[in-house]
Amino acid sequence: MISFENVSKVFAGGNTAVDQLSLEVPDGRLTVFVGSSGSGKSTALRMINRMVEPTSGTIRVDGADVAGVDPVKLRLGIGYVIQNAGLMPHQRVIDNVATVPVLKGEPRRAARKAAYEVLERVGLDAKLATRYPAQLSGGEQQRVGVARALAADPPILLMDEPFSAIDPVVRHELQNEILRLQSELQKTIVFVTHDIDEALKLADQVAVFGRGGVLQQYDEPAHLLSRPANNFVARFIGLGRGYRWLQLIDASALPMHDIERISLSTLTDGSAICAAQAWALVVDDEGVPLGWIDSDGVRRYRGGAPLSDSISTVGSQLRPGGNLSQALDAALSSPSFVGIAVDRDGKVIGGVLADDVLAAVQSQRRD
Ligand SMILES: Nc1ncnc2c1ncn2[C@@H]1O[C@H](COP(=O)(O)OP(=O)(O)OP(=O)(O)O)[C@@H](O)[C@H]1O
Ligand SMILES: [Mg+2]
Repeated sequence: MISFENVSKVFAGGNTAVDQLSLEVPDGRLTVFVGSSGSGKSTALRMINRMVEPTSGTIRVDGADVAGVDPVKLRLGIGYVIQNAGLMPHQRVIDNVATVPVLKGEPRRAARKAAYEVLERVGLDAKLATRYPAQLSGGEQQRVGVARALAADPPILLMDEPFSAIDPVVRHELQNEILRLQSELQKTIVFVTHDIDEALKLADQVAVFGRGGVLQQYDEPAHLLSRPANNFVARFIGLGRGYRWLQLIDASALPMHDIERISLSTLTDGSAICAAQAWALVVDDEGVPLGWIDSDGVRRYRGGAPLSDSISTVGSQLRPGGNLSQALDAALSSPSFVGIAVDRDGKVIGGVLADDVLAAVQSQRRD
């Protein structure tokens, strides 16, 4: 456990970055520090591994005051990931990842071998290992940054806006990757972001920092939404507070509705009937959706138009483990307003309706 006890940091010139911070970061959980720019999140994080020394107060890791622990030793047990990954530009990816194990005295060859395993764990192709950081995309570099922090298998990971410079699609992938890794590894993670959606998605608990480095609320995501401690927190969560609930509720309890399916082969041989239903879903032989089709589309296709001109592309889909936000998005992005739910292999298992999503939120919030 990491604990802050009345910790303040006043920089030269009298600027208070962190003001009387007291909170406990539990073991094996993901804790997010969120707040606007300049609210002291990074300073608070960097005091944990002594990159910044507090002006007053005590920080303990597993009960030991960090002020009494040699900073180099302390940091060997604490992984640190920053925006733009902070990789060493003149070292190949594999050597970047193996850095800390080598510093800890592991033979280089064994460290490299282990580094390949970690690269795989964070979803990177082994053939990237011999490249230099500049030869990777931003998202790949960020994965290397995470791999490097994990390589020494530290119990604690500090992550300071690791995904801020990444485009939204890759950012979602990396967030999912962190959740997957965390479910396997159960590290004690402190994650800094200014993005409230990222905080709500990743966190077991969220600390909201306000102006002058004052902690405004420390709570689990659902409580931030249902019981913001003050106007600052309510404003920080923003106008979308109502619909942010959707992200926090698992979609697995939604009723599944039938979707009329037409296999590509029956569409081709002309035996498909698509008259009664306005929209049907064209699926391949495996049951993977290809697109929605209506009677016009069937006519066009049989008249010789290519499939891609006859169907309406499949929008977002609800995948296993998805939340109500994804279910609603699937429903609203579908021309039939029936959202496609798929299994792990991408095969259709049924349809979800927007009405059911809203009913599920209401019943959940009444509980
Ligand atoms: N080394 C420093 N010397 C003086 N002031 C500093 C120093 N580092 C940070 N500060 C100040 O402390 C305050 C908090 O900074 P900090 O970097 O912790 O904020 P932050 O919440 O991480 O912001 P951001 O979201 O922009 O990264 C700011 O006012 C900043 O200007
Ligand atoms: Mg910062």
